[in-house]
Amino acid sequence: MVSGSVLVRPADRVRATLRVPGDKSIAHRYALLAALAEGRSVIHGFAPGADCRSTLSCLEALGIEQTRQGTTVTLIGRGARGFRSPQGNVDAGNSGTTTRLLSGILAAQPLSVTITGDESLSRRPMARVIAPLTRMGARIEATNGRLPMTIHGGNLEGIAYRTEVPSAQVKSAVLLAGLLAGGTTCVTEAAQTRNHTELALRRFGAAVETQGLPDGGATAAVLGGQRLSSAELAVPGDMSSATFWCLAAAGLPGSQVRITDVGLNPTRTALLGVLERAGATVTAEVASGAEDEPAGTLTVGHAALRPIAILPAEVPGLIDELPGLAALATFGGEITVTGAGELRVKESDRITALVTGLRALGADADELPDGFHVIGRRHLEGGIADAVGDHRLAMAFAVAALGARRPSTILGAGAVDVSYPGFFDVLESVRA
Ligand code: S3P
Repeated sequence: MVSGSVLVRPADRVRATLRVPGDKSIAHRYALLAALAEGRSVIHGFAPGADCRSTLSCLEALGIEQTRQGTTVTLIGRGARGFRSPQGNVDAGNSGTTTRLLSGILAAQPLSVTITGDESLSRRPMARVIAPLTRMGARIEATNGRLPMTIHGGNLEGIAYRTEVPSAQVKSAVLLAGLLAGGTTCVTEAAQTRNHTELALRRFGAAVETQGLPDGGATAAVLGGQRLSSAELAVPGDMSSATFWCLAAAGLPGSQVRITDVGLNPTRTALLGVLERAGATVTAEVASGAEDEPAGTLTVGHAALRPIAILPAEVPGLIDELPGLAALATFGGEITVTGAGELRVKESDRITALVTGLRALGADADELPDGFHVIGRRHLEGGIADAVGDHRLAMAFAVAALGARRPSTILGAGAVDVSYPGFFDVLESVRA
């Protein structure tokens, strides 16, 4: 999957109106909740990338019947404890979201299931879900807090849990376990992370109480034992995929992109405020789902870039967008990011690999212990950047390469399949 290199030629500008694939975070959650509901759920606009395919194949291995036609996925839910023992391990591929959210559900199933993953996922920390799920009553064996991980599920008791790092994946694992546990489960986080699980639970008929805290944190609470009803839902376009076209438009003079039917959930749109701070023109018009998962049209255009600093409190809302923002700074801007140590435990060490790749393209980029600094004093020369198998780095380097003097090669470009199959074809089509 990670193989393949792609040559990216410089672009004068980008101009396009387009849609992006379905939101990866939302698609994972709709599929998992459909599996826990009773009967047939239909999900339109399902995310086509490998990560969400991993969620579907894990569910299939756990006995959830499903069919797929284009981007419409139909799943036959088997209720709260209907999973069957898989034959062998379940493979989460490259997907941290699959692993962590599924762990929460498996913790409450009367089964022992081993989750495995690819090399990158096997390096990522799982102690952050093992700790709360163990407190709730599951028995979990892992290798130094990493995959492969065997979950011996059983009867769980609800807990009040404060996450150690703001993480939507951890919050969601605990809330999903809490849905299947006795009593109430409440998760508090120091900063609001994406709230798709809370919204999706409601879409499938469960009550969830949420509250913003005065210090910028948030709580979410769920009562165990609620039954989910099946649903028919549509997944909006993925803001984190749209990000790369917004950044290319912000960086290249004379550019504008318009992205339709893209998710505009406020827990995912922090990028837009940052783009405005950097000087770009941004309009976002919500057309649907105002009280649920808002979606609409996003338009971003170029303007001369101003230096920006991303503060630690902003990081959870921008976590997947930071590699792209680093690429934007190479178009004559400047960015300083701190408080983003979490980037080191993503699909790759996204601080070291990002800075290494941008430097290979000719950028002035430096690592900080918990972030990075990039300054775009001059055009990049272009060069060979290694995405080290990380989809977001492959796309960030491709955006940076658009602003270089000569063509650049992105190694490991096939990784884009994780979240955005066809990314490089779209890249060719937006040139103007
Ligand atoms: C995700 C949450 C984020 C994000 C990841 C998807 C999710 O991870 O980086 O790409 O779907 O919940 P953390 O919550 O671990 O920061």
